[in-house]
Amino acid sequence: MRGSAVARGWREAAEEALYGPDGFFLRPEGPAGHFRTSVHASPLYADAVARLLCRVDAALGEPAELAFVDVGAGRGELTAGVLRALPPQVAPRARAYAVERAPRPVALDDPRITWTASVPHGVTGLLFANEWLDNVPLDIVEVDPAGVPRLVRVREDGTETLGPEPSRADADWLERWWPLPPEPGFRAELGGPRDAAWAAAVRSLERGLAVAVDYHHARVARPGFGTLTGFRDGRECRPVPDGSCDLTAHVALDACALPGAELLSQRAALGALGVFGGRPPLSLATTDPAAYVRALALAGEAAELTARGGLGDFGWLVQPVGVAARGLLVDVADDEEQ
Ligand SMILES: C[S@@+](CC[C@H](N)C(=O)[O-])C[C@H]1O[C@@H](n2cnc3c(N)ncnc32)[C@H](O)[C@@H]1O
Repeated sequence: MRGSAVARGWREAAEEALYGPDGFFLRPEGPAGHFRTSVHASPLYADAVARLLCRVDAALGEPAELAFVDVGAGRGELTAGVLRALPPQVAPRARAYAVERAPRPVALDDPRITWTASVPHGVTGLLFANEWLDNVPLDIVEVDPAGVPRLVRVREDGTETLGPEPSRADADWLERWWPLPPEPGFRAELGGPRDAAWAAAVRSLERGLAVAVDYHHARVARPGFGTLTGFRDGRECRPVPDGSCDLTAHVALDACALPGAELLSQRAALGALGVFGGRPPLSLATTDPAAYVRALALAGEAAELTARGGLGDFGWLVQPVGVAARGLLVDVADDEEQ
């Protein structure tokens, strides 16, 4: 039997449900079997990340080995897509690392891809984490009837009870990043483990750019009751830590940010990388109908990646490491779009 019938914190319960023996993310179908990320939505996404890798390459002075580190790589879809999209002057110097807790898919046989369980140290290039941090397990607190925040305990069937007060470190994090009113029922997700995971990933880069992309919220507008939820077979479901579903919560990207970081929307970031959701010119329909139909399909995919109320609202936390950020992304993005 998985875990125990005993109630425990959400962080411990989710860790086992997602990554323990028979954990949700270790199953053969992978994340794509249950939900759709930007990577699955369109190859335009990998193309855009490849363009960003080329800009980082130029900013680094075209190093002999250019790393692309895909953290939380799923089944390597983004890694493979980025390598495919690189131009001939960059591709031979590129070395990819797919960082993933699940085993390497048999079909992913490109020798340029190193499959690894931990982020490589001392590399130079682009570290990219699409929808990784929302799956880094965290604890949850809820305000009790006396107005005091308490850790939420959960059983394998998803039933919850309130436990002790959070540690001093967690209480400090709450006060700084997610202050709760003394109203019974209000909840917050304790983001310390995500801040630490992101800081460690950034530290692993010798030089280059680190980018975390995720659904997020900011201190000025945290959701009153938290965002923990589940996904199974393409549908949102009740979060139950029994290994049957994804367990995810929006990321406090502002809390993860290290000095020098910038936060922009996916819409603005992809715009800066040449991905726009606009329709192709109608004149193309007369001059080249086949090209028009192709362009229309791509425009639909770009629209999905940049949609308001959807993937376009995702945050891109952009962290330069020992490299000038100018011209990479932020100052090329249209401020109006952020
Ligand atoms: C939501 S999926 C995203 C997959 C892919 N990046 C995409 O956008 O389609 C999150 C992935 O992160 C992986 N993951 C979570 N924590 C990890 C860690 N500490 N090290 C490596 N992979 C991790 C999970 O196994 C899962 O495959």
